[in-house]
Amino acid sequence: MSHDKLSQTPAWLALQAHHAEIAEAKLRDLFEQDPERFARFSIEADGLLLDFSKNRVTAETMALLHALAAQADVAGWRGRLFAGERINVTEDRAVLHVALRAPAAASIAVDGEDVIPKVSTALERMRSFSESFHRGDRRGATGLPITDVVNIGIGGSDLGPLMVTEALRHQARPSPRVRFVSNVDPAHLNRALEGLTPASTLFIVVSKSFTTQETRLNAEAARRWLRAGLPNDQASAEHIVAVTANGARARDFGVSACFDMWDWVGGRFSLWSTVGLPIALALGFEAFEELLAGARAMDEHFLTAPHEANQPLTLALLGLWYSDFFGAQSHAVVPYSQALHRLPAYLQQAEMESNGKAVDRDGRPVPVPTSPILWGEPGTNAQHAVFQLLHQGTPLVPVDFIAVARGEPGDETRDDTREDALLANALAQSAALMRGKSAAEAQAELEAAGLDEAAVAKLLPHKVFPGNRPSTTILLDALTPRRLGQLIALYEHKIFCQGVLWNLNSFDQWGVELGKQLAAEIQPDLASGPRESRHDASTEGLLARIKDYREGR
Ligand code: F6P
Repeated sequence: MSHDKLSQTPAWLALQAHHAEIAEAKLRDLFEQDPERFARFSIEADGLLLDFSKNRVTAETMALLHALAAQADVAGWRGRLFAGERINVTEDRAVLHVALRAPAAASIAVDGEDVIPKVSTALERMRSFSESFHRGDRRGATGLPITDVVNIGIGGSDLGPLMVTEALRHQARPSPRVRFVSNVDPAHLNRALEGLTPASTLFIVVSKSFTTQETRLNAEAARRWLRAGLPNDQASAEHIVAVTANGARARDFGVSACFDMWDWVGGRFSLWSTVGLPIALALGFEAFEELLAGARAMDEHFLTAPHEANQPLTLALLGLWYSDFFGAQSHAVVPYSQALHRLPAYLQQAEMESNGKAVDRDGRPVPVPTSPILWGEPGTNAQHAVFQLLHQGTPLVPVDFIAVARGEPGDETRDDTREDALLANALAQSAALMRGKSAAEAQAELEAAGLDEAAVAKLLPHKVFPGNRPSTTILLDALTPRRLGQLIALYEHKIFCQGVLWNLNSFDQWGVELGKQLAAEIQPDLASGPRESRHDASTEGLLARIKDYREGR
């Protein structure tokens, strides 16, 4: 169903009317009125709890949102996704990241060909490649063991594996050490190479297209570095492997092995594929398999849980509720886990590249706001930096708090006090956003502190917290590979559901192209001498000043 029709459906109109009725309702009151609110508005599945009780919803809201999902045919689209239909219409591709973690006995056909055997073969290659490192028998061209791996890739070829290896670093293998380079800024590669030697370093060049400028330029620079330290070009090529869907290009570049990925795997959904090779190298193949198992469990949940107990669908509907009915323009993800410090960056690409679109699947303008700006920082750090705005600022920013009940094992300096402090802060922040502090409460506090009437009057407006600010808490029992797989897949399916609700193609990214084209036009002008101006005045002015600054003028 196209979105302009959807926005006129009874479910949409009923939500509009319902919003007008409950927009002023206070979460505090809803909690007071219903002692069962937590039980009613939380969903637990396989060690992952979604508490959405601190959202500005009632049972009626959820029923109306689910009616909207039914009218958008989320269940039908979900079936098409899992069946391998070409739902990425602008690129005429299937979208099958779910095939990458499907049970080995499954069968999913693209153009009549079952893709599961290909996935199994790729996984087996990853297993034997990573196990050769962990057995200690992976040697470089000069016979020295490979101790360090540098992953060169950007966007989906970087953010997922980087986020996962950071999150699970407490269970990293002692060797190889894995580093990541993405930015075309030469400083990134330069810093990643600190302390490394060519003879014991392997580069993984990860690029689905193998045409991405940043990755190509960094790979060329890495090859120059290898060539300067190894006997010959052949030896250098032995220190580079590729992960790509464009094997021909990779072989032209010169690599010793090529791990396949496929056009039905979108870059931002690719960490489950051979793009996850650095994960398997850093953490061991069993950990990678556990990650896949977690995602598979979430796939199963998404497919089979009734809609009112369906975690991804619930998260998607709540997001739409705030974007389209409350006008929220951003959404914060705050993991109370330092290990998850790259999760917001990963989710930024996943959500904003997928649903940051203004035309629908049929090329028509979407009449309602789509993806909000996603941002976030780990707690408790975020509390000391950005929470002021969340509590007392003018915009409404729904928050996802992600908390982990059991801390990281194997930490020598671990103590319960800090772990408890971390969790207490997570719970306190969501409670504070929900409750707020009324003028009467603030006044009583100021008076109890001994302030005179004038001082109370002066400070009071600054001490009030409006509250009624929504949040969802995702609680994991522990941050294991399996739970992380579930968590990532939860967000993947949330994004999918929102795309369906807004009638978007969540799987293309045409919006990244224009900047690439212009960069190709501008770059030669940075190197050239005097020439006729051919860009806008700002670009010309900046080019001229860059030249001046470079020449010390
Ligand atoms: O330019 C955007 C993008 O295509 C992302 O979607 C993708 O994850 C990234 O670039 C890297 O692409 P590739 O893996 O083809 O180098």
